[in-house]
Amino acid sequence: MSDLNANGHIFGGWVLSQMDISGGLVAGRIAAGPVATVAIEAMTFIKPVLVGDVISVFAHEERRGRTSIGIRVDVVATRGPAQEQIAVTSGLFTFVALDENHRPRPLPGS
Ligand SMILES: CC(C)(COP(=O)(O)OP(=O)(O)OC[C@H]1O[C@@H](n2cnc3c(N)ncnc32)[C@H](O)[C@@H]1OP(=O)(O)O)[C@@H](O)C(=O)NCCC(=O)NCCS
Repeated sequence: MSDLNANGHIFGGWVLSQMDISGGLVAGRIAAGPVATVAIEAMTFIKPVLVGDVISVFAHEERRGRTSIGIRVDVVATRGPAQEQIAVTSGLFTFVALDENHRPRPLPGS
């Protein structure tokens, strides 16, 4: 129940946290080490996620800077017996590679 909002839909913050985790895994692989989320842009909740939906999170590199990586994260819900595929959210997450002092670290190869 704590993951539902007053409309009975899955709470947006829960979906956002799954997106942050997924984007961070991809960014961490590219950075070959720890990363932190510095910004979330262009976050769109397109359709609600309903109880019983199975969500899939897709994350891919969209841009790369000196220490930062932009990861596009899209979420698709699979719903009902017909297995309907519904795009539910999309956002552009920026992660920064961190050094041992928690400061920005150049990405491998830059
Ligand atoms: C991540 C952090 C170390 C960056 O420190 P900073 O002093 O802003 O570092 P810089 O100004 O050198 O910026 C580092 C990179 O981030 C990018 N950046 C900083 N703020 C940004 C923003 N709001 N949007 C997009 N990119 C941003 C910069 O463009 C730079 O990228 P580049 O090196 O590829 O050109 C610092 O902001 C921080 O610790 N934030 C908290 C992170 C956190 O707790 N996240 C939540 C949990 S993971």
